[in-house]
Amino acid sequence: MISFDEAEKLLTEYGQQHLLYYFDRLDDTEKDSLLSQIQQTDFSVLKSLNRDDSAKNGLIEPPDTAVTSKQGEKYKKTGIETIKDGKVACVLLAGGQGTRLGSDKPKGMYNIGVTRELYIFECLINNLLDVVKLTDTWVPLYVMTSEDNNRDTVGFLKEKNFFGYNSEYVKFFIQDMSPCLDFNMKILMQDRHSIVLSPNGNGSWFSAMVKSGLIKNLKENGIEWLNVFSVDNVLQRMADPVFIGSVIDMSYECGSKVVSKSDPFERVGVLCKENGKPSIIEYYEMTDDMKSQLDSSGKLAYRYGVTLNYLFRTEHLEKLANARMPVHLAEKKIPFMNRDGDFVIPDKPNGYKLETLVLDIVRMQGNCLPFEIDRETEFAPIKNMHGADSVDTARELLKKNGVEL
Ligand code: UTP
Repeated sequence: MISFDEAEKLLTEYGQQHLLYYFDRLDDTEKDSLLSQIQQTDFSVLKSLNRDDSAKNGLIEPPDTAVTSKQGEKYKKTGIETIKDGKVACVLLAGGQGTRLGSDKPKGMYNIGVTRELYIFECLINNLLDVVKLTDTWVPLYVMTSEDNNRDTVGFLKEKNFFGYNSEYVKFFIQDMSPCLDFNMKILMQDRHSIVLSPNGNGSWFSAMVKSGLIKNLKENGIEWLNVFSVDNVLQRMADPVFIGSVIDMSYECGSKVVSKSDPFERVGVLCKENGKPSIIEYYEMTDDMKSQLDSSGKLAYRYGVTLNYLFRTEHLEKLANARMPVHLAEKKIPFMNRDGDFVIPDKPNGYKLETLVLDIVRMQGNCLPFEIDRETEFAPIKNMHGADSVDTARELLKKNGVEL
C-alpha cells in the first residue's frame, strides 16, 4: 500500500490533493481505505481527456446504404450455419447505472410486467432463446457488469434460473470503475475517505473481457463473431441469423443494427463515414442542415439511428486489447460530499462521468454494414420511466408485438 507521502506526490501531479483534505481526521481503517483507493485509481486517464471530444475533425459523409431485414433474408442460411458451428457469441452490456430509469437495482432486474412479472433480462433471454430453438445451438452469452451491480445481477439471474437459458453458456465479467469529476476537473468525494466512482463506460467491454481472461475462452471455443448489445432494448434480436449472414456474405468487418430516424431531429446518434471509415455522429454534433440533408433518393442522408446492437469480428478486436480508448466526459447528476463534509444529491448535472464508448470501437473498424431493422418490431429501448424511450413506450410496443404483460 502506498504511504501518505507517496499519495500526496501522486495527487499533486494530477492536481487532486483535495482528496487528502480530511486525512488527519480519519481513523486508521479509513486512512488505509482511502490510500488503497488512491493506489488503485488510474489517474493517467485525466491526462488523456479531451474536453471537446464531440468535435469531429474529419470529413463526414453518409454511410453505405443499409440492408433491411427483408433484403437480408437471403443471407440467413449463412447466419444459421455460423451459429451452428459455434462461431457466434453474445455480449450483454449490463454495467451501466441506469440513472435515468431511477431504479436502485440493475436495469435488467426491472419488472416491466403489468399483470405478471416480466423482467428486462427475461425479455432479452426470451428473444435469444428463439435463436437457440431455431438453430438447436446454445449461443454463449457473456454478461458485462460493474463492481456496483455484479452481485445483484449474478444473484438475480441465478435465482431466476437464467430464465431458462443454459447456465453453462453464461459467463460474467466485470468492467473497471473511473473517478467522477466536478466541472473544474476535480475528483468528487463520496465521503471523507472514498472517491466517487462510476463504471468506465460501455466501450471498455473488450478490454474488460481480456482482463477477465475470457478472451481465452473465446479463442478456445473458436468464437469468431461477437454480437454486442445493450440491456435496454427489450424487443431486440440478438445473434440474429439474418444480420450475421448479411455481414458475412457481404464481406463487412462489422455491422450495426440501425433504425430509420422517425424525424430529422430525433435525438439519436447516426451512422456515418468519417474520412472514409465508419463512424457515429451524435445528434448534438450535427448541424440542422446535416440533419435535414437529403440523398439522391429523397431520403434523409443521415437517417440510420444506431440501436447499440453491433456485430464485431473477434480477430479485428484483438488490436484493441491494449489500445487506449478515447475517454468522453458525460455530464451527469452525481451525488457527492461537498467541502463542508455534507452529502449532496444534485438536482441538475454537477460533473462528469468518464466513459469509453462502443461507438469508438466501430470507428476502429475498416467498414460497417448498416442493417436496418423495423423499429415497431425490434426497437423498444428503456432509458426513462415515462416519456420518450421509456417503460411506457416499451410496454406499448411489447403489447403490439403480442407480448403478454
Ligand atoms: P446508457 O448510455 O444508456 O447508460 O448505456 P446507463 O448507465 O444504462 O443509463 P443512464 O445514462 O445512467 O440512465 C447503454 C448501455 O451500455 C451499458 C448499459 O448497461 C446499457 O446497456 N453500459 C453503460 C455499460 O455496460 N457500462 C457502462 O459503464 C455504461
